[in-house]
Amino acid sequence: MSVSFDIQPNPGARSDAEVAEILASPGFGVYFTDHMVSITWTKGQGWHSATVKPYGPLTLDPSAAVLHYGQEIFEGMKAYRHADGSVHLFRPNMNAARFNRSAARMMLPNLPEELFVEAVRQLVQIDARYVPEAAGEHSLYIRPFMIASEAFLGVRAAEEVTFLVIASPVGPYFTEGVKGVDIWITDEWARAGEGGTGNAKCGGNYAASLIAQYEGYEHGCTQVMFIEATGKDRVEELGGMNVFLVSADNELVTPALSGTILDGITRDSILKVGEQQGLTPVERRLSAQEVLDGIADGTFTEAFCCGTAAVISPIAGFKSKKGEWRPQGQAFERTIQIRDGVLDIQYGRAEDSFGWLDKV
Ligand code: PLP
Ligand code: COI
Repeated sequence: MSVSFDIQPNPGARSDAEVAEILASPGFGVYFTDHMVSITWTKGQGWHSATVKPYGPLTLDPSAAVLHYGQEIFEGMKAYRHADGSVHLFRPNMNAARFNRSAARMMLPNLPEELFVEAVRQLVQIDARYVPEAAGEHSLYIRPFMIASEAFLGVRAAEEVTFLVIASPVGPYFTEGVKGVDIWITDEWARAGEGGTGNAKCGGNYAASLIAQYEGYEHGCTQVMFIEATGKDRVEELGGMNVFLVSADNELVTPALSGTILDGITRDSILKVGEQQGLTPVERRLSAQEVLDGIADGTFTEAFCCGTAAVISPIAGFKSKKGEWRPQGQAFERTIQIRDGVLDIQYGRAEDSFGWLDKV
């Protein structure tokens, strides 16, 4: 890769004692490491000014396009510490490839995959002391993102763009842990529509999901499951996670990639690990009614949601304005088996038979 990084260590970096205090109770996305990566793209010039520098506020012109038109994308990935102290990324090329698919949808420039991965590696290396021990499912959450930083109010693709990577030591996303979360099925709000940005990881999708998320909170639920916008029938995904069902005859069923949902890397990994564990992976259209009827009559015995931040969380029940449905398998046996299967690879406790780990 021809881009070289200018490394500017942070003179105000936290002491080891301060880092240890954060790692003892990191929460999720609350604390950030001492550094960040920044790379600029200028039309006609390409990517330049790759820098690893002290973490801190950005200077943006108030007219920067991202602040007005939301031309922005991001990724979510993690670095895991193994028992021998080594640190590993999980399928980082999948994040790099998805980042470019999101970029293409949002008219942002392509970032060479190797530059994306190198930027992540640079940050993890300089801030390696923030990668927690594996205990309690702690990890370093990494957030690469790209913003239209050009100062210009016309509506067009920005001609100056900034790519940044920040990182945050994290514990579990859900405080419920493996007890299982309740999911609200909204019949009012949609997250994405055909031809929209549902399969791009852009900030606007998350802003649009908040109103439904808060509707879910009002009904005692942790997350919301979205149904397709037009037919009001096809199950899509949660605000920040994909969804799975386990059937009594050992099918591992998840909505097919319809163009309106995110193609989760955890989703893809679960389909492969589940198959290795003897389940039959099935990606197909699932109607909301079929899911609820299937839970009621025992066709679907377990349900879970999955994503990098939330890992794999059992779903204790679904709620909607029409009622409440609780899968019979409240011990979540299959879910926990799959969850352990994925986590054991990520934390180096099982053989990485798929070649998914990338040592930093
Ligand atoms: N769906 C949405 C909307 C998400 O935000 C995420 C999280 O990244 C996922 C699914 C799961 O994707 P992944 O497993 O790649 O983290
Ligand atoms: C992730 O799982 O990485 C996500 O991006 C979901 C959410 C935290 C936005």
